[in-house]
Amino acid sequence: MAKAAVADYQFYNHSPEADDFYREIVAGFSRNPRSIPPKYFYDEEGSRLFEAICQQPEYYPTRTEVALLEKHAGDIKSHVGHGSYLIEPGSGSCEKVRLLLDTLRPAVYAPLDISCEHLKSAAAAVAADYPWLDVHAVCTDITNNVSLDFIPEQETPVMFYPGSSIGNFDPADAVEFLTCLAQLTGPGGGLLIGVDRKKDHKTLHQAYNDASGVTAAFNLNLLQRANRELDADFNLDAFEHFAAYNSVAGRIEMHLISTRRQTVNIDGHKFDFNAGDSIHTENSYKYTDEEFQTLAQQAGFSLCDVWTDSDSLFSLYFLRVSQG
Ligand code: TRP
Repeated sequence: MAKAAVADYQFYNHSPEADDFYREIVAGFSRNPRSIPPKYFYDEEGSRLFEAICQQPEYYPTRTEVALLEKHAGDIKSHVGHGSYLIEPGSGSCEKVRLLLDTLRPAVYAPLDISCEHLKSAAAAVAADYPWLDVHAVCTDITNNVSLDFIPEQETPVMFYPGSSIGNFDPADAVEFLTCLAQLTGPGGGLLIGVDRKKDHKTLHQAYNDASGVTAAFNLNLLQRANRELDADFNLDAFEHFAAYNSVAGRIEMHLISTRRQTVNIDGHKFDFNAGDSIHTENSYKYTDEEFQTLAQQAGFSLCDVWTDSDSLFSLYFLRVSQG
C-alpha cells in the first residue's frame, strides 16, 4: 500500500490504472446496447458538476437527505456510539459527513473516492476543520476489492453511504456491493445508507432533467473526458442527454443519444452511430421500503432504524451486519 504522510491526514493511493478508461470504453462500445461505466463520470470536472446537480431545485434527494441527517443525528449516534471508525465509500466533497461529526465524535474518518485530487482537497478540509479527528483518505475504485489496512482487526467500523448511490447498481450488483461492505466491517458493523424511494414520475423525471442543464452537462462530460484523455473525437453537439423513468424496471435510465449519423474515433478505433443510437451511461433504481429491506437482508444486514421525510421522498437506514 503506497502511503504518504501529509501534514494533517493520511493518504493512500489505490487508484485505477490510467488505461482502464480506454479499455472499458472500447469494451462497452463493442456491446449492444453501448455503455460507459458510470464511475468515469467523476473526473475533476465531473465531480464539480455533480456537486452543482445536488444544488439544483429539481434534485430533491440531496436536500431531503441532508435534512434527515440533521434531524436524526442524535438517533444515529445511539447506534454508532462514541469513538467509532467511520468509513465513507464514494465520499465526493465530504460535505454530508460534516453534519454528523460533532454529534458522532468518531475516532477515525476514512473517505474513499475514485477522484484523487478532489478527495485530497476534501479530506484536507475535513482534517483542518476537525483537528481532533484522525482522517485516512483512500483513492480507490470502491467497486473493486477495497482493502483498508489501517483498521485494527478488533474494530467494527460503521459505513456511511449516502446519496442513494446504491441505486446506481443493478439490484443483484447492489446485493454484491453491500455484501462487500458487510465483509469489510465484519459481524456487528454498521451501515448508514441513503435510499431514494419510488414516487410519482414527474418528480423523478425533473430531478434528472433540470432546467439549467447541469445534469445534461454532467452526462456529456463523459464524452468530453474521452476527448481529453483518450484521443477521441466526440462531437459534443451531436449527442444529447436523455433521462427517463422506466416504471417496469423501477429506475431512471440515463443515455447519451446520437442526434445524427456519425463516426467517432477513439485512439484509432472507429464506431458508427445512426441518429437515435444511444450510449447507456447510468441507471438510478428507486426502492420501496420493502424492496430495499429485502435487498439489505440478502446482503446480510438487519434493520436497526429507518427515517423518512414527511413527503416520503427519501429514506435513511441504519443497518447492522447480522452476527454469525
Ligand atoms: N447517485 C445519484 C443518483 O442516482 C447520481 C446522479 C444524479 C446522476 N444525477 C445524475 C448520475 C445524472 C448520472 C447522471 O441520483
